[in-house]
Amino acid sequence: MQEVNLTLLPDNMTVAVPKGENLLRAAHAAGVHINSSCGGQGTCGKCRVLVKKGSVIGGKTEKVSDADYAKGYRLACLSHAETSLEVEIPPESRLHRGVLDASKVKRPTGRLAMPRETEAMAGIHHPVIEKKVIIIDAPDLEDNASDLSRTLRALKKQHNLEDVSVDYQAIRGLSAAIRDGGWKATAAILYTRFGSKPGSSHPRIISIEAGDTSARHHSIAIDVGTTTVCGELIDLARGETIAEASDYNGQIKYGEDVISRMVFAGKGDGLSILQKTVVDTMNGVIAELLRKGNVIRNDVPHLTIAANTAMTHLLLGLDTRYIRSAPYTPAVNQVPPVRTSELGLDLPGHAYLYAMPMISSYVGGDIVAGVLASGLHRRDRNTLFIDIGTNGEIVVGNREWLVTASCSAGPAFEGGGIRHGMRATFGAIEEVRIDPETCEPVVFTIGEEKPKGVCGSGIINIVAEFLETGLLEPNGKFRTDGKAARLRRGSDGMEYVLVTADRSGIDGDIVITEVDIDNFMRAKGAMYAGYQTLLESVGLSHNDLDEVIIAGAFGSYVDIEKSIVTGLFPDLPVERFSFIGNSSLQGARLATMSRELLAEAEEIAARMTNFELSENKSFMDHYVASLFFPHTEIRNFPTVMEKFRNIGGTYGPARGGAR
Ligand code: FES
Repeated sequence: MQEVNLTLLPDNMTVAVPKGENLLRAAHAAGVHINSSCGGQGTCGKCRVLVKKGSVIGGKTEKVSDADYAKGYRLACLSHAETSLEVEIPPESRLHRGVLDASKVKRPTGRLAMPRETEAMAGIHHPVIEKKVIIIDAPDLEDNASDLSRTLRALKKQHNLEDVSVDYQAIRGLSAAIRDGGWKATAAILYTRFGSKPGSSHPRIISIEAGDTSARHHSIAIDVGTTTVCGELIDLARGETIAEASDYNGQIKYGEDVISRMVFAGKGDGLSILQKTVVDTMNGVIAELLRKGNVIRNDVPHLTIAANTAMTHLLLGLDTRYIRSAPYTPAVNQVPPVRTSELGLDLPGHAYLYAMPMISSYVGGDIVAGVLASGLHRRDRNTLFIDIGTNGEIVVGNREWLVTASCSAGPAFEGGGIRHGMRATFGAIEEVRIDPETCEPVVFTIGEEKPKGVCGSGIINIVAEFLETGLLEPNGKFRTDGKAARLRRGSDGMEYVLVTADRSGIDGDIVITEVDIDNFMRAKGAMYAGYQTLLESVGLSHNDLDEVIIAGAFGSYVDIEKSIVTGLFPDLPVERFSFIGNSSLQGARLATMSRELLAEAEEIAARMTNFELSENKSFMDHYVASLFFPHTEIRNFPTVMEKFRNIGGTYGPARGGAR
């Protein structure tokens, strides 16, 4: 087979690939990331590359303009190497890992609160895995019972522990361990459910170590997100987190959202590729946690993960085909503890993984963990819990009842479906201010780099600014009767030039088009319709809500007031909103630190009622009514309307104007 050389810039990496090889696949095989939201279907346009030398076959679609094609831009997923190539991956097609380093990124400025109950719960220290130090009777001719019998006898006598199961792994090293320790040993006992009813747990010896190792006692909690994988190393002896690490989920290269991952998993050996890929990412995070915490691998016999249902299935190598289509059936909602070695995780042979329980195909263990961390299930107050993303998950409830639903908001909150949309990484515009007189913008980017595109929180901000300055009609169309020099007619109707080419970090202007605004309107409409439908199902309206908790990394960056202006959030006093951050990871940590809280998580999952919105008539009606700024039912947005009244006109005086 004839080979050609592929040089990838700016990494300056050269690899030999078979002639005709697909550029996206070749780059990923070489470990070079190129954004590929649609998983290589040729529909998202995010995998643009610049062919600087050599020639490729294919790569031209309507996603690449004639002018860009002439410059050498191609879609990597549709291009095949014809000759040796030099290919540059432009900034907007790359993923910047540095943004995962919290110290380099501006933290949210909004109210960031952990509910009081959660703080109190975090103090509970009764971990799911315990170490018990025992003194074992040395055998003699009077008492030559087996080593295991004498070990169990010691556990009963010294720790009042009986009816204990024992793992084969623990028996294998038993005789040597108790003798090496001079008849002193430490038993690691796991208390999690092994196929019994929710909330119950049973002690199980998973290892016996020589001597007293009780001070070396750790667990790891990982939030396995569709985009990022975030972990904490917990010192169980002291009851505190001692290291944190995160990375992008390597599965991104096979599609950015859970649907495209599940499509990939359904083809050929796609499932095993995705399983191995996420395990590789987790192994990287585990290695970094151990390095930062100065802990050896053998001292971590336990791992708790919280993830959405699709991600949990993909990690465990379970079939996701029936999650995707009606009647949306996951393989399991609760998984018994799984040996980490069976999954390929780099933890000791006796270590177990526990997955937070799931509710349905689209409400997963991450939401159960989030509810646990928020403490909303313990309160009298009616609380709305929102996790915004491609898949928006919503929970409403109190100590008496809990209902949940998931709605497909589309990729707009992650920058998808937006002409210059991008993930929240360096160079992404996250905040915009538009001068009400001149309609000129001031933009702020993540990492204060040259702007390369707009992330989800930036879109919310921009649309709110357009509305507040009277540039945008409530139907999402720009007003064309004014004099805003930055409005012009483009290929997708009217567009606003946010950053001109000379100031942008990409090869051209950064614009917001009417199609972008339409896509955002659908996304916010789906979220709003989701909580209206759920509230209605329990006979409440948003005025009955005492608190709104915004979860998730994206949520932490959202401006509450701007979000209300667009109609993404209900028009309630801002004091009722709070951010909880990565509640999925917090919940996984709490369930590791306390077996009572683990049982509580299982009870939350068991008592939460799931509403399927995809074919719900009421949801569709609410959704259609939400396709307006802020909403067709303007009486539900009194403070927003008050703001707009000050502008005048439909909303205000004309600001726009085609040039
Ligand atoms: S267009 Fe190439 S990955 Fe989506």
